[in-house]
Amino acid sequence: MRRERLFDGHGRRISDLRVSVTDRCNFRCQYCMPAEGLPWLGRADILTFEEIERLVRLLAEMGVTDVRLTGGEPLVRRDFPRLVSMLAGTEGLRDLSLTTNGYLLERDADALVEAGIRRVNVSIDSLQRDRFFQLTRRDALPRVLRGLEALARHPEVRPIKVNAVAIRGFTEQEALPFAEFARRTEFQVRFIEFMPLDGDRAWTPDAVLTGRELRELIGRVYPLEELPREPSATARVFRFADGRGEIGFIDPVSEPFCADCNRIRLTADGKLRTCLFSLHETDLREPLRSGAGDDELERILRDAVWRKELKHHVGEPGFRQPPRSMSAIGG
Ligand code: 5AD
Ligand code: SF4
Repeated sequence: MRRERLFDGHGRRISDLRVSVTDRCNFRCQYCMPAEGLPWLGRADILTFEEIERLVRLLAEMGVTDVRLTGGEPLVRRDFPRLVSMLAGTEGLRDLSLTTNGYLLERDADALVEAGIRRVNVSIDSLQRDRFFQLTRRDALPRVLRGLEALARHPEVRPIKVNAVAIRGFTEQEALPFAEFARRTEFQVRFIEFMPLDGDRAWTPDAVLTGRELRELIGRVYPLEELPREPSATARVFRFADGRGEIGFIDPVSEPFCADCNRIRLTADGKLRTCLFSLHETDLREPLRSGAGDDELERILRDAVWRKELKHHVGEPGFRQPPRSMSAIGG
């Protein structure tokens, strides 16, 4: 069934949905979760695969074409590849992708590809084992790299992107190793500016290592040329001037891309978030479970999306960090 396309009150058409399938994670990245973890949602709190499938189908009928599955860490959800296969055939979906920390990719890569995943982002913040441990609080770099290789053995999964959060005092030292990694492998490396979504609430504006600073560090050694970019793309992508590989920068803090934002997010417990930094969310689980029909759900979705925030206010006076950390929202 075709429904009217989904627009917010600022004229932005919504075509991209991020679905968090669990708030749990086997890592404790400093920029995301406290060392001791967080109080996890109970089993009955989280949407079932059938509930997620229904919302995705409905949103696809309203013009959502891209769905990214995230967490927490999506691969810790039991039977996760089954959800992928349930969603893969959704009419109208153009792109079904995954963001993972890679820890379980060695185990799951084959099943995920079989189920229909074609694009994957793997989070890796350092290519040095001890520094990876320091940031993620798990000594898991070798295993994550093996997972990346397991994925790369599937030529139908492309591109494979490696995302590194850019933190002042840490990522400066990672810039050149990642540039060299991007030049010598087929993985696309992208730096993401540290955002105030950390469980420890230790974020300060100073802790953001900007994309511009990283570009300067890299460009001094390996000159860069910017590639053209689509309006709704969040990354600015550069190629190395000598033609070997490319590197991207996602700069939500220093160069917000809110004006072109086409995204909404669904949390594991069935709340719709219209911005990473939303202070308000819309519950979909209750209507789902109390028998709301598709038209009723459509109305709730349209209503919530209409009120999508114009922009985030990170770094401005009076900015309030949302109560949920990244792990409970979904990156
Ligand atoms: N700022 C920027 N990126 C973050 N991520 C998690 N927390 C933050 C943060 N505070 C990233 C992870 C992963 C994706 C899910 O979000 O590194 O790539
Ligand atoms: Fe887990 Fe991803 Fe958060 Fe790290 S950033 S703790 S891998 S959810």
